[in-house]
Amino acid sequence: MPIRKVGVRGIGAYTPPKVVTNFDLEKIVETSDEWIFTRTGIRERRIAEPDMATSDLSYMASKIALDSANLTPGDLDLIIVATVTPDMFFPATACILQDKLGATCPGFDLSAGCSGLIYALSVGAQFIANGMYDNILVVGGETLSKIIDWQDRSTCVLFGDAASAVILGPVDTGGFRSFVLGADGGGGKLLELPAGGSRLPASYETISQRLHFIKMNGRDVFKFAVRVMEEASLEAIDKAGLTLKDIDLFIPHQANIRIIESAAERLNVPKDKFFVNLDRYGNTSSASVGLALYEAFWEGKIQKGSKILMVGFGAGLTWGACVLEW
Ligand code: COA
Repeated sequence: MPIRKVGVRGIGAYTPPKVVTNFDLEKIVETSDEWIFTRTGIRERRIAEPDMATSDLSYMASKIALDSANLTPGDLDLIIVATVTPDMFFPATACILQDKLGATCPGFDLSAGCSGLIYALSVGAQFIANGMYDNILVVGGETLSKIIDWQDRSTCVLFGDAASAVILGPVDTGGFRSFVLGADGGGGKLLELPAGGSRLPASYETISQRLHFIKMNGRDVFKFAVRVMEEASLEAIDKAGLTLKDIDLFIPHQANIRIIESAAERLNVPKDKFFVNLDRYGNTSSASVGLALYEAFWEGKIQKGSKILMVGFGAGLTWGACVLEW
């Protein structure tokens, strides 16, 4: 079977309307707008209402992506949802989304932390490249506000809720030119949600010890992030047969402006080549790279033929990068 080129046929994103600023957080924990902004670059984030789950945000992003691809849910061959905040353990959020959309195709979830969207794009691309499917909906959706410890100032200021959606399909020109995936399970402890799974099922103790919330060693994650952003980017560009100078736009995972600036310095790439919207959304985990791609597109930063590097890192520890020719 011939290998087919795979590209982006449509894109969408959705953020819940409620804005929570750094000043709002000053009223919840001992922090300040000045501390948050200088350490992270974040000004505000979007937070879902209590009755909104990941599939609800994913649905909104998916509808926009389907419209932009000129497809209906019935045209979909597969749905992959990358998330660390599924609606529930099972059924998969992809199946809940399939039902909401009125699609009939198979679907499954993928867990790779904030690298989730890049992992999911690489998985979806295989099905199209080998001819098994034509139209795949890949979603990065998160309601991180539901697993944030709102008493922990070292983490609650960093994250936000969002969903992004990409429709993959066969293309004649351009498309994905490389994928790089990586993991270091030994570093998993640096960023985890300890309880609620089979290791520590929910109990009175796990709840009273607040073990159902994100725990993170920020400094070590920072060092890891800066290193893998550089290494994964260079590897993906090399695999694509390109050099750094060929890349028109860098779309990094939107975790912290200092991580992005350090990566830009290490790569010796001007900072304005890196798209940034984390000031308005914070870290939206697997939604972040797709949300940035969507906004970059609508801001006119992407044209036909543009060469885009997407790069992310996250819980696992995981990392991923890809080069996409638009
Ligand atoms: N407001 C005010 N002070 C805070 C604070 C907050 N929201 N959060 C932490 N602090 C305090 C700490 O308690 C510490 O105080 P101490 O020195 O008295 O102990 C001090 O600020 C400095 O903390 P430190 O951890 O050194 O800050 P930092 O410069 O490393 O920045 C992060 C902290 C979390 C912003 C940074 O480490 C980071 O972004 N790491 C990567 C996290 C990430 O991207 N995670 C997601 C991966 S997908």
